[in-house]
Formats: sequence, structure tokens, C-alpha cells
Amino acid sequence: MSLPQLFHVVTAIALLLVRCHAGDKHERLPDKPGQNGLPGKDGRPGLKGDPQMQGPPGPLGAVAHLPGKDGLPGPQGPRGEQGKKEERGPPGPPGLFPSLHTELQETLEGLKNKIAKLEGVLGLDGTVTKFGEKIFATNGQEVDFQTTLEVCKKAGGSIASPRNEGENNAVFSIVKLYNRYAYLGIKGNGMPGEFSFVDGRALNYTNWLPSEPNDTGAENCVEICTYGSWNNTVCSHDRLTICEF
Ligand SMILES: *[C@@H]1O[C@H](CO)[C@@H](O)[C@H](O)[C@H]1NC(C)=O
Ligand SMILES: *[C@@H]1O[C@H](CO)[C@@H](O)[C@H](O)[C@H]1NC(C)=O
Ligand SMILES: *[C@@H]1O[C@H](CO)[C@@H](O)[C@H](O)[C@H]1NC(C)=O
Repeated sequence: MSLPQLFHVVTAIALLLVRCHAGDKHERLPDKPGQNGLPGKDGRPGLKGDPQMQGPPGPLGAVAHLPGKDGLPGPQGPRGEQGKKEERGPPGPPGLFPSLHTELQETLEGLKNKIAKLEGVLGLDGTVTKFGEKIFATNGQEVDFQTTLEVCKKAGGSIASPRNEGENNAVFSIVKLYNRYAYLGIKGNGMPGEFSFVDGRALNYTNWLPSEPNDTGAENCVEICTYGSWNNTVCSHDRLTICEF
């Protein structure tokens, strides 16, 4: 019961008591004591008591239970968001039609065979020799160094520049056959003993004669002798033209 309610109840009881007493004044005095009345009605329920303070915790329970079995698997979760798509790359080069590809392949095979045959025919008279990917050829003419450079360039190649023993042997086979010296694509820079290939690359292979090069810087050309070794000399002699392709 709240305080105001309690106040009303107390006021009501007080008023009741005042009326009783007021009624008493007008009652006449009894002649003799009456009989005891019936027991009154039960009073109203009392006010709620103050809450007691919380007690101390009880003793621990018995042995802990073992963990139970795993439950059934839960329902499947919602589908995740779709990942970003990578950007499409640039289109590749257009492919050849398979039939065209086959046709080209056959044409190339045919050309390869024809070239191989020509190489064989030219090789027979020693005008053409092959080593690795290089083909060496001569026109049988003897000219100076500068003219050799020009003739070879005009023919779509360059002056023979053997860069290993195999290539040197290929050039040598032509020299032997014609029994003529030939200029090589090697040039001195005017300093004694300093030579490089005409394309500017350093000499990674040489086949100098013993005691060569022994120039003073005035002999800036290199010839291959009829026994395959190199000698440095002037550039103005007439030498067998040998080109490489
Ligand atoms: C020198 O280098 C060229 C490539 O520039 C190569 O073909 C040749 O075989 C090399 N020579 C030697 C002796 O390694
Ligand atoms: C270089 O040596 C050759 C022989 O191999 C010789 O004929 C020539 O005179 C020499 N040149 C010089 C400049 O010594
Ligand atoms: C090498 O060249 C020099 C002059 O350039 C020449 O006198 C000599 O005979 C040459 N050597 C050979 C073996 O041809």
C-alpha cells in the first residue's frame, strides 16, 4: 500500500471512530451488561514487511555434468554478396583460320625444301657454305675492303665475320677452294692491336697468325689466309669477296 492510500485508510478509520464516539454520547446507559457479541470480522491484511537482506550463497552443487552431444547442424546461412568481377583484358591478336594456317605451314615447308636443295646445288661448287644459322657465299670476284662491304650490303648481307671456329671453318672452306685470301668484317681503330667486328661488337673469337697482329696502327684490315689464320694488313688489296647471310 502506498503512503497516500495508507493515509486514506487511517483517515477513514479515524472518522469511523469519531462517529462511534459521537453515537456513544446519545446512547443511554445500559441497565446491565449485555452478552458478549460475536467475534468481529478479520481485519485487513497488514502492510508488507521490509525486504530481508540477501543471504549468503548456498553450497556448490554436486559433480558437474559432462558436456552433452553436439546438436544437429543449424540451417544454412544466407548466400554471401557476389565478389567483384575482374576487368576484362584487351583482346588478343586475331588468330589465323585453321585452314589458312595449314596452307601457310605447307607453303613454308615447300619453301624450306626448295632452299635446302638450292643450298645443296650452290654448295657443290663451293660458292655457298652453311654453319648454324649463317650462310657464307662468294661471287668469285676480288675487290678491296670497301668494295667488299658494298657488294655484300647490296646482296642483302654483310662481309663475312666469323665469330667462332665453325663459322671460320665455313669461310676457310671457300678460301681454300678459290685459293685466295679474303677480307673479314673486322676493323682496326688505328691503335696497334685494337680490333673489333665491323658492327662494333668486341672480338669474342680470333684466329690470328702467330705474332699477329703486329701492326703499328696503319694496317686496319684483317684477311683470312689460305691456311685459315688471320693476318692484319692494309685495306687496299684485292681480296676474294665473301659475304654472310
Ligand atoms: C661470340 O658471340 C656470338 C654472338 O654475338 C656467338 O654467335 C659466337 O658463338 C660467340 N663466339 C664464341 C667463341 O663464343
Ligand atoms: C708483322 O709480322 C709479319 C710476319 O708475320 C711481318 O711480315 C711484318 O713485317 C710484321 N709487321 C711489323 C709492323 O712488324
Ligand atoms: C701479313 O701482312 C703483312 C703486311 O700487311 C704481310 O707482309 C705478310 O706477308 C702477311 N702474312 C701472311 C702470312 O700473309
